Amino acid sequence: MLKWASTMNTSKLEPTHLAQHDFTQDSGLPDIAYLSKLANELFTALPCDGSRLGQVSGLIPSGLTSSLASAANQQDVALPGDAELQTFFAKSESPYQSVPDSLDTGSVFGKTSPNTTTSLTGLDQSILAGILPNNFGLPDQAQLQQLLVSRVPNGSSLPSFGSGEQLPSVDVLKPSSTAQVSDAQLQKQFAERAGVTEIPSRMAGVPEPSHGYSGFDANLIAGLIPKAYGLPGEDELQQLFAPAPKDPVSASSSPSFYFLDELKTDGFKAPALNSAHPPFDVQALRRDFPILKERVNGHPLVWFDNAATTQKPQAVIDRVSYFYEHENSNIHRAAHELAARSTDAYEKARDTVAHFMNASSSSEIVFVRGTTEAINLVAKSWGQQNIKAGDEIVITWLEHHANIVPWKQLCDLTGAILRVVPVDEDGQVLLGEYQKLLTARTKLVSFTQVSNALGTVTPAKVMIDMAHRVGAKVLLDGAQSVSHLRVDVQALDCDWFVFSGHKIFGPTGIGVLYGKAELLEAMPPWQGGGNMIEDVTFDKIIYQPAPARFEAGTGNIADAVGLGAALEYVSKIGIDNIARYEHDLLVYAMEALRSISGLRLIGTAAEKTSVLSFVLAGHSNQDIGVALNRVGIAVRTGHHCAQPILRRFGLESTVRPSLAFYNTHDEVDLLVTTVRRIQSGKDF
Ligand code: ALA
Repeated sequence: MLKWASTMNTSKLEPTHLAQHDFTQDSGLPDIAYLSKLANELFTALPCDGSRLGQVSGLIPSGLTSSLASAANQQDVALPGDAELQTFFAKSESPYQSVPDSLDTGSVFGKTSPNTTTSLTGLDQSILAGILPNNFGLPDQAQLQQLLVSRVPNGSSLPSFGSGEQLPSVDVLKPSSTAQVSDAQLQKQFAERAGVTEIPSRMAGVPEPSHGYSGFDANLIAGLIPKAYGLPGEDELQQLFAPAPKDPVSASSSPSFYFLDELKTDGFKAPALNSAHPPFDVQALRRDFPILKERVNGHPLVWFDNAATTQKPQAVIDRVSYFYEHENSNIHRAAHELAARSTDAYEKARDTVAHFMNASSSSEIVFVRGTTEAINLVAKSWGQQNIKAGDEIVITWLEHHANIVPWKQLCDLTGAILRVVPVDEDGQVLLGEYQKLLTARTKLVSFTQVSNALGTVTPAKVMIDMAHRVGAKVLLDGAQSVSHLRVDVQALDCDWFVFSGHKIFGPTGIGVLYGKAELLEAMPPWQGGGNMIEDVTFDKIIYQPAPARFEAGTGNIADAVGLGAALEYVSKIGIDNIARYEHDLLVYAMEALRSISGLRLIGTAAEKTSVLSFVLAGHSNQDIGVALNRVGIAVRTGHHCAQPILRRFGLESTVRPSLAFYNTHDEVDLLVTTVRRIQSGKDF
């Protein structure tokens, strides 16, 4: 038996090593000694103190491992097991003091974000994604794979992992324990452990292996065996194939898209809001929005960029104008008439917000610049006060950068760990995986109620309750949800809820942080200045209670008032009416777009709203955006400030039409017709 650590060499491996190495051997079998040396050199060069590496079964994808395993069998050598690797790491000397739990993939390789999924540590994922090797001048996964392909019998059948593909769960095949068995034997063994007669050679939903590798490998690569039989972990091999409960999200079979009535399953109870305007008359409502009369390139404007920002009704425009014409003053700061008017208008807007989201008190409403500022406020105030090294913050793959970056920064500052809940192929949060990430270490869960890139509606109430069961606080990002579905913060029981005014027909530069009263009271201020203090001496500062404590300086008074007007406007139409109409429009648009050949919809969750992300084979997203603009249609193209979720689908960008209640079926028809023309090459 070759001992893994015996070939340890502390010199750094240069890419040229691969080129110089003589890959041809008489046996044609993999040179395990060389691979050991290669990996040892790689590991030795990692910024590692050994102790933090944890599970490191992920160097080689399972498909490769199994091929190696069967090849190794013929050579009577064992591949390194986790225990050996860990021993090795523990002994290795390193110039580095710590290993990042996951490295920032940035756009280095456009690969799936490495810091998530199942049983793999962030470091494992980094290794798998080839980020670590590349960051440290070592051979990357592709090079290792190339090496293996050239050494293993039938090497050409080895699977590859393309950009954006989700990495497999790699500790299914334990090298040390499976080194002497073939795929067929493994399959039999797994079936026995699973208590089933056999594991199908290719499970439902697994694509035909395109590289000639076995269906069994395809199952592994698709992650279906772990998914179907439970999460594999270092210490969980015995339970590996125990049947897992069906994921409540992915289990839902018939797409119904988001429909407000279905929200009842989340335990929502609608707050009493005025709901006038029925029946829903889209043409009448459109007349409320002066900008919809604009023409672009000689065509009527079709505003399908509502996820980026919504248009403003005359009521909001008028209210902001009225403020500047009749009320403008700083607030809370003078005895004069206009100060009283502006303060009244500002505080009335706060009351309107509280009522709109069913907060228990207006003092739970903090005016901020927008969603981004609200999340940063919580991260910097509550986060810096409460998050410590080793704590864990859980987000999902669906998040907008605004709900990733502040938490990553907080982790970098405190030594806390960012965990990310994976999603399935439809863009739905995998609740089973989420459950596994929730532990006593979880101090915060922060996730979106509606994905801005895919439109997925997350099961917010369920996720909040799950987080609370482990004692975690929950921030719910409502930037993309407030204009489409009823928000009731008391029914949801979220600890914080954040949204931006401009996404709900209000002005830009104003947004809301809702926080439970006792939480806000316990949170330190994050910015200091006027308005937020009760008393200042050079020795001591006494702060205002919330919400003023978090509103340092002169805020965006006029636009807070405008936001109040926007929420009143939406309430008058009735959020139920809006949701019902948008639901029908979304179903109509999804079906129509789906019928275009070469068009791939990104985000097909059973519960979704408003967003219609897609790519079209043979056409760049940018070109499609430009072509649509020629006929007056505005859509966003790009990464939508949500790169990780697009990369989850192997993409760097999409075309993203997004709907609001003032959009019409005719506008959808124009979109679909135009995309068809682009697809057929006519006129474009
Ligand atoms: N977050 C906004 C969007 O999704 C800007 O486009």
